[in-house]
Amino acid sequence: MLNQQLFDFEKSLGQSVLQQIEAPFIKEKGIELWMKRDDLLHPIVSGNKWRKLKYVLNDALSVEAQRLISMGGAYSNHLHALAYVGHCLGLPTAAYIRGECPKHLNPSLVDMQQWGMRLHYVTRSDYQLLRQQGLASYQQGDYWIPEGGSLTPALQGVAELLTEIDIDYDVLCVPCGTATTLAGLVSALPDTKKIIGFAALKGAGFLVDDVQKMLNKVACHNNDWLVNLNYHFGGFAKTKPELHDFIDDFEQQQQILLEPIYTGKMLYGIYDLIKQGYFQAGQRIIALHTGGLQGKRGFTAKHNKEMKKYDHSRINRS
Ligand SMILES: Cc1ncc(COP(=O)(O)O)c(C=O)c1O
Repeated sequence: MLNQQLFDFEKSLGQSVLQQIEAPFIKEKGIELWMKRDDLLHPIVSGNKWRKLKYVLNDALSVEAQRLISMGGAYSNHLHALAYVGHCLGLPTAAYIRGECPKHLNPSLVDMQQWGMRLHYVTRSDYQLLRQQGLASYQQGDYWIPEGGSLTPALQGVAELLTEIDIDYDVLCVPCGTATTLAGLVSALPDTKKIIGFAALKGAGFLVDDVQKMLNKVACHNNDWLVNLNYHFGGFAKTKPELHDFIDDFEQQQQILLEPIYTGKMLYGIYDLIKQGYFQAGQRIIALHTGGLQGKRGFTAKHNKEMKKYDHSRINRS
């Protein structure tokens, strides 16, 4: 049974509508592209954040956890959402952050601190150990949530979003970090539908094993899933000018904001695959907007710097 506080929080969420993405080249291919707007659920606990945290938090509350501890990068959407929900629930939170404490905290870290999250900075090698082994020692009452909220109860929350899709479709697309969201969707998707995860990381072939391991813990009937590794743009949180150009155009045409780490890369990939004729005429595709728009704040400056570099190199060559 869902804890009353979580029930109330869920009731306050916005509606994740299905919205058609229209563009002449999509129509010409005889394809329909729709977006499931999980970014509209909440400005902070948006997209897959609420989906993944819902039953993890329910479990934490049911075992009377005294503190939630997790890990992530300095712009982590997961930690940002966890800090906020912990604050709303009156449950202390702490996090291990990859890398050194920056001289000036970025806006995501400032938010986390303001919501009372204790931040511990760890070296990249210690972070890797935490990722592989989890916390070496716990205080009584600590509830450990691995990177990206990747625990089995997260799958159930993600799977629930499928019950909200009231149109027929052939292919579901989702961005992947830890691929927990992909696993949750595969676990509940009928085997007549295909699902494609788009990896945000470079060299993320290991995700197939990770998903399989997560699926081994739950009932699953769908074998028609894959992880596309071709649209990482150089690696996690790396971008290229053509990705930013794509996002700028998309935002202008569709009036839907995208961030460049997950949903932006996935949509670039979907557009590219449609152009290449990967999907069959008559197919209806649904792309999941996994939110995380707070992470966009870190990109404006980086984006501008990259674009400047790009323009300079063009000027120098001419
Ligand atoms: C906005 C956003 N989209 C997608 C993902 C990837 O989700 P997962 O780690 O479940 O693959 C994340 C990370 O949690 C995210 O923050």
